[in-house]
Amino acid sequence: MKIWVINGPNLNLLGRRDPNHYGNMSYPDLVNRIEKHSEEAGFEVHCFQSNHEGEIIDQIHDKADIMDGLIINPGAFTHYSYALRDALEIVEVPIIEVHLSNIYAREDFRKKSVISPLCQGIISGMGIKGYFMALDYFKPV
Ligand code: DQA
Repeated sequence: MKIWVINGPNLNLLGRRDPNHYGNMSYPDLVNRIEKHSEEAGFEVHCFQSNHEGEIIDQIHDKADIMDGLIINPGAFTHYSYALRDALEIVEVPIIEVHLSNIYAREDFRKKSVISPLCQGIISGMGIKGYFMALDYFKPV
């Protein structure tokens, strides 16, 4: 089971961003925790982060055919990137949208996700646990 975990802009600055929304853990520590959780589940995980829309789209194009699942927190691209939305259309495996904060409890512009219609499910507001919950979705029942 190969799972891609893609994080979008500014998520590399976790630990420096507002802890009320995003917690205290740094991005490298989050990646370590995701890798540990995946190893325990017997998954091969690949974590990718970029601040650049095109790099995220390229990563989706390159890996779409070899991934068994995609977990994506597109950061602010969530709310307006139709290019990212269209790239996700080529992914034929389940996509889980994750947000650390509850995007429905914040500013109005965050309440819209242009990628949700392409996702199997959404986890929002559960902090870093959202990534582990998304990984667990791919475990057999
Ligand atoms: C976020 C929510 C977005 O609105 C914001 O732009 C982010 C992070 C989250 O994880 O809560 O960068 O996706």
